[in-house]
Amino acid sequence: MTDKRENWSARSGFIIAAIGSAVGLGNIWRFPYVAYENGGGAFLIPYLIAIFAAGLPLLFLDYAVGHKFRKAPPTAYKKLMNAESLGWWQVMVTLIIGIYYASVLSWAGSYMFYSFGQKWGTDTQNFFFKTYLQNGEGLQFGFVPTLFFGLVIVWAVVMFILYGGVRRGVELANKIFMPLLVILFTILVIQAVRLPGAVDGLNAFFTPNWEAMTNYKVWLAAFGHIFFSLSVGFGIMLTYASYLKPKTNMTGSGIVVALANSSFEILAGIGVFAALGFMAYSAGSSVEDVVSGGIGLAFIAFPKIISSMGAGGDLFGFLFFASLTVAGITSMVSILQVPIAAFQDKLGWSLKKSVTIIAGGSAVISTLLFSSHSAITFVDVIDYFANNIGIVGGGLLSIILLSWFRRPLLQQLKDHVNQYASIKLGASWNFLLTVVTPLSLLVALCLTINSIIRDGYGDYAASTLWLVGGGTLAFFILGAVICSMLKDKEPSEQEK
Ligand code: ALA
Repeated sequence: MTDKRENWSARSGFIIAAIGSAVGLGNIWRFPYVAYENGGGAFLIPYLIAIFAAGLPLLFLDYAVGHKFRKAPPTAYKKLMNAESLGWWQVMVTLIIGIYYASVLSWAGSYMFYSFGQKWGTDTQNFFFKTYLQNGEGLQFGFVPTLFFGLVIVWAVVMFILYGGVRRGVELANKIFMPLLVILFTILVIQAVRLPGAVDGLNAFFTPNWEAMTNYKVWLAAFGHIFFSLSVGFGIMLTYASYLKPKTNMTGSGIVVALANSSFEILAGIGVFAALGFMAYSAGSSVEDVVSGGIGLAFIAFPKIISSMGAGGDLFGFLFFASLTVAGITSMVSILQVPIAAFQDKLGWSLKKSVTIIAGGSAVISTLLFSSHSAITFVDVIDYFANNIGIVGGGLLSIILLSWFRRPLLQQLKDHVNQYASIKLGASWNFLLTVVTPLSLLVALCLTINSIIRDGYGDYAASTLWLVGGGTLAFFILGAVICSMLKDKEPSEQEK
């Protein structure tokens, strides 16, 4: 192989990095609140169906494209089917996700320290919104120094890892952080399930509410979440697979990654709901009454739970927020690796140049936007649009182009994966990718767009949705169009 592209040191290095990417804020921060808002136990069934109907088939597709062409999404999709702009759409999605991901990560990092002495006091809601975020009415810019410093630290750590490259940066960081995460998180969940009242929380989590399942929004939430959680459909797994050595068993790795991701997610749900059960027990009420769901679940309910534990809560709080931070860093690195690799492939930039321009530029925008008085509004609205339209739309387009319009290519990709696969992709993969995945995603996307047009999103003013949500979509489209028009670097002799 004459290609100079970096490689993982071994398949285990790839697996650990892929798990590090999948397991992130999505599992610990996002999953419990999305599950909570969508009927608790009722959410688990659509969630499991979404994994098999769409998550896994797309994961294997991402692996196949990245590994076959050994490039990030734009160049890989260009070589596969002349669809470079689709790859750039996915890159734009990662850029947008990266900038808000850093924000939530910096909250988690700050709360890790606030746990000592339980700095949030008794009114955790007021502390989170007013004291910490200094949240304003509507859209307000301005400057919140604490948020600014948190963001600077997050970006510095992430850029430091990225400068190390695939093997000495990303892989090494994952090898350090992932075992640490497993230890922190296991202690946390064991602590949580031993709390009095935990069983009521677990009942709320595991009892399926069949009625909630008739609500299409629960299904949308499940499909919208699984891609984010598994890191598929927006170029991450595709890019990570591009650093694999040529003869690699990818289906085996994929199943390990998906299993690890879901186990972690369910474990996080168990930890959070057990703690909610404890909170209900302490307040003498039911789980449904003690907490409102939403984006603040981790930063409002959890501190409240920690406070009700007395002094021992400090350690519990530290474990929770440290887990969140560690899990988030390894995912954040994988998110940024996509645009970094894409610009390296397209323009022939060195690693250093790409990290400095792409991660450095994102850092500046992220720090400016998210140290404002509207940080949580930006996070919430951008997260919704990026997941439910950006990721779902990009994933859907890649599947439709391949399985409806270029079927022979799908067969080639399958043969490519099956060459070294321990578990071969069979006719069911084609069937899922041709019928089940695209149709379910198409329905999900249409319903999301319809729901935005009809009901907006959350309690936000239409002007906020237009500006922030519409701006996010405009960024995806314009970014994809403009970057596709950039001139490629001259291919080197080796690449011709
Ligand atoms: N897969 C990553 C997460 O769950 C992005 O946070």
